[in-house]
Amino acid sequence: MTIVTIANQKGGVAKTTSAVNLGHGAAKRGLSVLVVDLDTQGNVADALGMDEGSDLYDWLITGKDTEQVAQPTGRENLRIIRSNKTTAQLKVAASGMDFREMIVANALQAYEDDLIILDCPPSVDILHTAALVAADWLLIPTKLDQFAIKGVIEMLRSLDSVQRATRSNCKLAGIIPTFYDQVTSESHAQLKNLAEQYKSLVWPPVAADTNCRVANRVGKTLWEMPVNARAKVGYTACLDRLMKII
Ligand SMILES: Nc1ncnc2c1ncn2[C@@H]1O[C@H](COP(=O)(O)OP(=O)(O)O)[C@@H](O)[C@H]1O
Ligand SMILES: [Mg+2]
Repeated sequence: MTIVTIANQKGGVAKTTSAVNLGHGAAKRGLSVLVVDLDTQGNVADALGMDEGSDLYDWLITGKDTEQVAQPTGRENLRIIRSNKTTAQLKVAASGMDFREMIVANALQAYEDDLIILDCPPSVDILHTAALVAADWLLIPTKLDQFAIKGVIEMLRSLDSVQRATRSNCKLAGIIPTFYDQVTSESHAQLKNLAEQYKSLVWPPVAADTNCRVANRVGKTLWEMPVNARAKVGYTACLDRLMKII
């Protein structure tokens, strides 16, 4: 089993979009996949056309049975643990616990999926730390703007401090450049910048593509969209990279 956490302290960089599309992509390639939503906004369920739910709270706080917590998505090999506003209460409840940064790692021991993807909130909170403790690998999606590298550096600092403070073995798997715009020089310049700094850790860029927004709105993954979405090319190449670390 491989656990991958998708994180960046910045919001709107395509964390959830990457979690859902890589998760469903890997499921379509035959792996059994569980996507865990760690954000109060419950966007993983939205993106898959499902209702939000308090599964995360029930799982981590009330200790609800593992098999009842993971929800089928109607897609072969793909289940999710949903989140909603109760996740805010979860954070309060967890803050008083001993070994709280182990909360996700411990709970995940009950699962045997080939791939578990943790979709992180855009903040440094207990769940963000617990995800880094639980994961084998960190994937950082980033937009290609002037703040991109700063966000990546902040995330790597966060990983470094979690590694120092805990026994986390999480390593950087890669950086996914998202919202790549072939036309603008800013996109090119920032991609070059990232490549100079992080070399082969930079995964193939995912094009800015309105189909991502449309897919999100209608609760489908890119693989379920009939159109030839440009972002599919990037996520297919990222999936090839992902398969190498599972
Ligand atoms: N490659 C892309 N091109 C255009 N829009 C995108 C792309 N990836 C994601 N989006 C859209 O951007 C918004 C933020 O993406 P999301 O995955 O929710 O980010 P995060 O989880 O980092 O906050 C969503 O509306 C999503 O549909
Ligand atoms: Mg999100």
